[in-house]
Amino acid sequence: MKAVVITDNEEPIDLVELPVPEIKEGNCLIRLKAAALNRRDQWIREGMYPGIKHGTVLGSDGCGLVEDGPKQWVGKSVIINPNVDWGDDLNAQSAEYSVLGMPTNGTLAEYISIPSHRIHEKPPHLSDEEAAALPLAGLTAYRATIKKGAVGKGTNVLVTGAGGGVSQFAIAFAVASGADVYVTSGSDQKIQRAVNQGAKAGFNYKNDRWFKGTLAVGGFDTIVDSAGGDQMNNYLKIIKPGGRIVMYGSTTGHPQKLDVFRLFWSQAQIVGSTMGNDEEFVEMIEWVKNHKIKPTIDKVYTEEDYIAAFDRFKDTEAFGKIILKFRTN
Ligand SMILES: NC(=O)c1ccc[n+]([C@@H]2O[C@H](COP(=O)([O-])OP(=O)(O)OC[C@H]3O[C@@H](n4cnc5c(N)ncnc54)[C@H](OP(=O)(O)O)[C@@H]3O)[C@@H](O)[C@H]2O)c1
Repeated sequence: MKAVVITDNEEPIDLVELPVPEIKEGNCLIRLKAAALNRRDQWIREGMYPGIKHGTVLGSDGCGLVEDGPKQWVGKSVIINPNVDWGDDLNAQSAEYSVLGMPTNGTLAEYISIPSHRIHEKPPHLSDEEAAALPLAGLTAYRATIKKGAVGKGTNVLVTGAGGGVSQFAIAFAVASGADVYVTSGSDQKIQRAVNQGAKAGFNYKNDRWFKGTLAVGGFDTIVDSAGGDQMNNYLKIIKPGGRIVMYGSTTGHPQKLDVFRLFWSQAQIVGSTMGNDEEFVEMIEWVKNHKIKPTIDKVYTEEDYIAAFDRFKDTEAFGKIILKFRTN
């Protein structure tokens, strides 16, 4: 089968031929109809991820057809929970935890063999590409926004970086919860797209004074962010007293300094969030089905364009999830 693996070559990602994986007892062999890329795959390509194991098939997200395994699954269209060994504590992952696609072989391949307890039926209202876009980003957004962010009817929420793969789900979940949703983006076009999807308004973070524009909102109960960096001090200016700033990433790095005075005086909480437990994965799928949420697909690539698919992360035009498909599937 064809697969995209990480190597120690000058261009570290490579499209290679590998044997179709053998299935162990309790595993399913899945012919992948579509896989989605995450920023994590690009971090691995750039060598900015802990414990990189060369030769690993990349990719955490996939949707496919079960070809072999326990008979109740054979012939079913499924999506894959990317958690590996979350553990028993619902609050935090175990020390053994990892995400599918490093160090375990992932979804950027024609086939994957995966324990059957990792798979769930594809939500019927989604295409293969849309379903592939859901797992990692949907799970991260669900925990950060609905669970840790406590976003719901009557709350004002700011989701930063509207064009991001995860933030599109944070926006969709927050809108579905009945919250008043606002966004930031580096692009006015992306703000308009978020407004078309139910956000009330947006603010362009490329304008240094963007946070002044939010004053009319009257403060945010929750801010959901993955940019980090010095914007954190702006978030402390616009969070309501006692509000929550939920952070699941640090795309722009660490803040050079943090206004600790504003932090304690505002009674705000800065809350970390990573992925989500397996119960939240099930809840997230139910949420998507009940609210008929449809992931936004940025672009679909086929395997010969795998480099271009990864390069899309460097393109500020991107909006939504990047999909990779193998022609044979
Ligand atoms: N902890 C976890 O479990 C977890 C899970 C998934 C992702 N992450 C991390 O979360 C981050 C986002 O992941 P992703 O897959 O959504 O990546 P992505 O699709 O590449 O999105 C990144 C977004 O960051 C936004 N951005 C860039 N500079 C910004 C700034 N100064 N202020 C606000 N937003 C800014 C951009 O928004 P615009 O395009 O709208 O300008 C961009 O779309 C990454 O760092 C990733 O590693 C963590």
